[in-house]
Amino acid sequence: MDTKMSTRKALIGGNWKCNGTIASVKSLVAEFNKAKGAMPSNAEVFIAPPAIHMGLVADNLCKDFALSIQNVWSGKKDFGAYTGEITPAMAKDFGVQWALVGHSERRHTVAHESDELLNQKVLATLAAGMKVILCVGETLEQRDGGKAKCVVLSQIKYGISGVKISDWSRIAIAYEPVWAIGTGRVATPEQAQEMHKAIREWISANVDSKVANSVRIMYGGSVKPANCKELWKMGDIDGFLVGGASLKPDFLTIVGCVKDGAGL
Ligand code: 13P
Repeated sequence: MDTKMSTRKALIGGNWKCNGTIASVKSLVAEFNKAKGAMPSNAEVFIAPPAIHMGLVADNLCKDFALSIQNVWSGKKDFGAYTGEITPAMAKDFGVQWALVGHSERRHTVAHESDELLNQKVLATLAAGMKVILCVGETLEQRDGGKAKCVVLSQIKYGISGVKISDWSRIAIAYEPVWAIGTGRVATPEQAQEMHKAIREWISANVDSKVANSVRIMYGGSVKPANCKELWKMGDIDGFLVGGASLKPDFLTIVGCVKDGAGL
């Protein structure tokens, strides 16, 4: 039974990160295709494969799943001399609706992307007509130093700078505490709820109260079938951004938890 008193449609994404071979992607897609026609009506679900596998996934995964790119280029032009990059326009051409922007691995480990660059990526993605998931989260050091909310709210403030109110219907936020990503150490439902509430309150005070009520705030960081139900009960948790468990049929169990907790 769905006891959630939210009017927001759940948003659940599988971020495959830098994983997979042609063979493993084909096999995972076949596994996920078993969920065709069984998606909860109150959920929007997407997969973010590595860009090199996007065509393979777009051609073979059933349309119950939307697609997201894991990263985009920030330039104003749709095509050009950007060796190694992929523009939002190119992703859109493949039928990709969403782009992750500011994943902690892009901010901290892989590319050291700045708030300013991430803001340009948000604006470029929206300008191309795509939807954005702005990822935010604090490190363990920042949490232990009592700075978690300040860090996260500042990442949002800079990330969404210059976004028009009318474009907020194409933005979601993913709160992914860095210390919970890939560590098996999930945030407690109370820790996650506290941050999601703070994010919503900040948006209400600094953007618009209607936007705050409608924007989806996903939680990410060691989400598994064993912990998703408790997280999902929290009023301000509107879905999940799943890493490791999205490389397994476990992902479908997590999607199912927003329906009745029984998986798909
Ligand atoms: P894990 O679920 O593997 O902790 O990864 C979370 C994440 O980074 C999703 O974007």
